[in-house]
Amino acid sequence: MKMSKDKVILAYSGGLDTSVCIKWLQENYDLDVVALVGDVGQEHDGLQAIKEKALRSGACACEVVDMKEEFVNEYLTKAIAANAMYENKYPLLSALSRPIISKYLVEAAHSYGAKYVAHGCTGKGNDQVRFEASVSVLDPSLQIIAPVREWDLKTRDEEIAWAQARGIDVPVTTESPYSIDDNLWGRAIECGILEDPWNEPPEDIFAITASALDAPDEPEYVEVTFKEGVPCALDGVDMPLIDIIYTLNEVAGKHGFGRIDMIENRLVGVKSRECYEVPAGLALILAHQALEDLCLEREVLHYKLGIEQSWAIAVYYGQWFSPLKNALDAFCASTQKDINGVVRLKFLKGTCVVVGSKSDSSLYDYALATYDKDDSFDHGAAKGFIQLQTLSAKVWAAKQLERNTSNLSADKVLSGVSEKECE
Ligand code: ARG
Repeated sequence: MKMSKDKVILAYSGGLDTSVCIKWLQENYDLDVVALVGDVGQEHDGLQAIKEKALRSGACACEVVDMKEEFVNEYLTKAIAANAMYENKYPLLSALSRPIISKYLVEAAHSYGAKYVAHGCTGKGNDQVRFEASVSVLDPSLQIIAPVREWDLKTRDEEIAWAQARGIDVPVTTESPYSIDDNLWGRAIECGILEDPWNEPPEDIFAITASALDAPDEPEYVEVTFKEGVPCALDGVDMPLIDIIYTLNEVAGKHGFGRIDMIENRLVGVKSRECYEVPAGLALILAHQALEDLCLEREVLHYKLGIEQSWAIAVYYGQWFSPLKNALDAFCASTQKDINGVVRLKFLKGTCVVVGSKSDSSLYDYALATYDKDDSFDHGAAKGFIQLQTLSAKVWAAKQLERNTSNLSADKVLSGVSEKECE
């Protein structure tokens, strides 16, 4: 009886790299390849077409998994709670999708009885780390293969020639010179002329945001309602978060809002030029922050800013499934119970501004804040408050002065001495 081969579950996108991975895994590891396509809301020419391509490229099976709802409800909600922004700029779109895809790779490995999983990432990026860190935490017994890191196909042309020799479909249209990753949360664009940080990003790299120059001249207002930190309605109409994201991507994108152009510090130690468009994501985080400003007690808000940075770094570094990230999530979750209310956003010519916020759990107290006749703030209490609040620094300043003055006199004495000597 013919022994069946071991299996590998490959994270498959339908692009050239992962198609070549299928054949390469067969030739080099003698494995049966199960392709796994994760639908996280990326642009594609049809999931059925991707599946057929996987099978044509030699996969023994192809699983297409719709991860969109789970991506939104388990991943993006946590990112919103944490106002997730790596280096204060990047809303982590790729970093958020890798752990969910990894989770399904591991599940598929279990259901197919596979010993291996594989991905098509290079050895230079963050995504390899995220896949491998996630998979190895979820099931340390699985072995991970990274063909692109191992193979000897140095240029795109060599890769195409290798593919053509084995009957793998090669894209007929000239491929984009950029490396693009996208999902519901947005699009990441790298490589090509962007690799020179001096080059302005050409307009044609953007697909879901209009240029501010072409955006409407009239502003558009959108009201986002939050319940326990989760967006739950637009303009008063309740809808699932996924629909809020779709709608806001349209609105914000039309007004040219959501573009990011940054130099980013990769986990592997390389600085890279990254362009992103994250219209709904940036607008929702902006709105969420505004509501937190209104509803979170000062000390919690200040402390949370540090937690948010740690959260973003952990997720960027591939630590989605980690005790640190769980603990940070628990902190964020504990702060979200009172984040209920409405934020009014104004989109205009590439901008999105919070122009209003209201909440039943607001900590804004008009009587304390106003300079008008209704003022209830105890102005007299401020005097003693300032005396004690500044006491420690005043003690320090006094000691400094004392030391400086004695140094000064020491200087004077010394210079007096030398003057005398010169006389
Ligand atoms: N630099 C971003 C990150 O590390 C985006 C990566 C995009 N990935 C890609 N294959 N183009 O999260």
